[in-house]
Amino acid sequence: MLRCPLQLVRLRLPVRQLSDLTTKFTGLGSFSNLNYDQLQSSLRTDSSQCEQFWKLIGEQQLNWMQPFHTVSDCDLKSAKIAWYLGGKLNASANCIDRHLATRADQTALIWEQDEPGNQVYITYKQLHAEVCRIASLLLQSGLQAGDTAVLYMPTGPPVVYCMLACARIGVAHSVVFAGFSAEALAARIQDVGAKVVITTDQAIRGGKTVELKRTVDAAVKSCPMVERVFVSTRTGASVPMGSIDVPLEKNAAACSADCAAEPMDSEQPLFVLYTSGSTGKPKGLVHSTAGYLVYTSLTHQHVFDYRPGQDIFGCVADVGWITGHSYVVYGPLANGGTTLLFESTPAYPDVGRYWETAERLGLTHIYLSPTSLRMLLRYSTDFVTKYDLSRLRVLGCVGEPLNHEAWEWYHRWVGGGHRDIADTWWQTETGGVCIAPRPSAEGAPILPAMPMRPFYGLEPVLMDPATGAEVTESPAEGHLCMRRPWPGMARSIWGDHKRFAETYYSQFPGLYFTGDGASRDAQGFLHITGRVDDVINVTGHRLGTAEIEDALDSHPAVSETAVIGYPHKLKGEAVYAFVILKDGVSIDRLGDLRRELKRRVRDRIAAYAVPEKLLFTDGLPKTRSGKIMRRILKRIAAEDYDSIGDISTLADPSVVEALKQHHDLYQ
Ligand code: WTA
Repeated sequence: MLRCPLQLVRLRLPVRQLSDLTTKFTGLGSFSNLNYDQLQSSLRTDSSQCEQFWKLIGEQQLNWMQPFHTVSDCDLKSAKIAWYLGGKLNASANCIDRHLATRADQTALIWEQDEPGNQVYITYKQLHAEVCRIASLLLQSGLQAGDTAVLYMPTGPPVVYCMLACARIGVAHSVVFAGFSAEALAARIQDVGAKVVITTDQAIRGGKTVELKRTVDAAVKSCPMVERVFVSTRTGASVPMGSIDVPLEKNAAACSADCAAEPMDSEQPLFVLYTSGSTGKPKGLVHSTAGYLVYTSLTHQHVFDYRPGQDIFGCVADVGWITGHSYVVYGPLANGGTTLLFESTPAYPDVGRYWETAERLGLTHIYLSPTSLRMLLRYSTDFVTKYDLSRLRVLGCVGEPLNHEAWEWYHRWVGGGHRDIADTWWQTETGGVCIAPRPSAEGAPILPAMPMRPFYGLEPVLMDPATGAEVTESPAEGHLCMRRPWPGMARSIWGDHKRFAETYYSQFPGLYFTGDGASRDAQGFLHITGRVDDVINVTGHRLGTAEIEDALDSHPAVSETAVIGYPHKLKGEAVYAFVILKDGVSIDRLGDLRRELKRRVRDRIAAYAVPEKLLFTDGLPKTRSGKIMRRILKRIAAEDYDSIGDISTLADPSVVEALKQHHDLYQ
């Protein structure tokens, strides 16, 4: 677990007027006159106020084809979550068509290609035509409302067109991050039951090409349900085209640029996005149409103080993760904004890339990961200061705890010592930002390296894992849960609602359990300490230790493995695998085996999952009932030998000494 000490440094920030907040909620009835604390306390204490708040927000944020009759029908005890019942709407129409009257010629997307200086601007009018053509093509190919399609594409306009084209005709998309291996992709295609896969010939990132179409070819071999693979052109390289493969752009060009947006029920799944859990295979989290769009558009506006028509939102996340879904695509477009599609890396062609891009494109917002900050701060600050960042107004980050060093660097060098830092905490499951300093835009101080305040209507609670009771005092630490439902939360795990209920709603009945630990300071501000389950967070990407263990265990020479995360200066956490080999495996093979095992993880999951450290050992610390004591392995990996604690309950306590020695030798 990563921990940052609480540090209550008051920054001198310009004091904003209460009216800043009230004007944001114009048209919201009696809520318009409340400041953040008043609003939160009224929503917390009065359910009917909460209902009324989300009703007005729902009506205000979206265009409805048929109004909803019931704001919410939720019971967290039974993992039942439903919002805006009776309503009909279309997400694509909300992200495009409704803006055409006023923003047809405004830039919707700026595609920042891998090679700097090749940006492409796409207006709302163009976005409409491209999305309609692809939606028409998908309809022609036999896709219908209720089907699913997998998108395995790099960040760029085509993936956005395809997401919105799916939404237009009621097909749930499942974007798979284009760094996943063929096996991982196949598992997701099978799980979601996709008839159609959309991919790209090759991706380009950091000057390197990545073979996406070939990976899809390997994946679909084990996916008999796939009837059609559409192939978008990025590099134009010649890639093998088989009988089910269809060039995307060539065929879409022949289709109608007018395709009606289908009215969908509020609760119709908009997309499925896979993420790692602490056990078993990755989970396909299902997000709804109405609630998700209400919540992402609202948080995009308030957490980042986004002003459509003036601001250029620069979220540099890959579209394949939830951050890309919510704050590259749906939030900004639902708000009629201009959003960046960043194809490159923070270090290409040099470590000034983000700031050079920010100056050249005039970004007003940048939203990035703590991992990239930790990497960038190792280099000269000239890479930042030589660019004019005066248009930047809000600096955001997400994905991992933002440590103090990175916060200070971001604030001082990128933020000129005065711009707001929005350290936003949220998850694939939550749909949008849940905790961030910004919703309270009323001059309250922003404290370094903590997300601080819950978003409107949310009620985080800390729970004691030992007693299962709420921790009510402050300061305190505990497992982070949410008491009240909100529209953006995930509805289910695709095809496995039971697992959904067990994973998130059984540990603390009546509450959503996040899987994270948090601390609350004396003023009630929240700091996230990291995962408390068997999920590790490597460079801001989630991995389940069980997934990696499964991959390693599949090797014929392996008898047993235990995988843990350990603190890593750059990656946040890195993967450490303890491996017991089968009897009779020759010691001469250890070098080869190490390579083979790493390769196996790369092939089964993705490059970022490959263990940084892999230690062969004869034994693992187990209880007498055979449970591996991961706590001990974590301490060994962190070389925190003094706090290993009581080992007398282990079946064989001598294992610990042997592991320490092996670990020391291996360093
Ligand atoms: C971690 C990313 C500390 C956390 C949007 C969470 C954070 C997991 C923060 C979700 C933050 C995200 N401070 N930790 N500001 N933001 N996390 O699903 O452990 O990819 O549970 O969603 O990232 O990762 P996911």
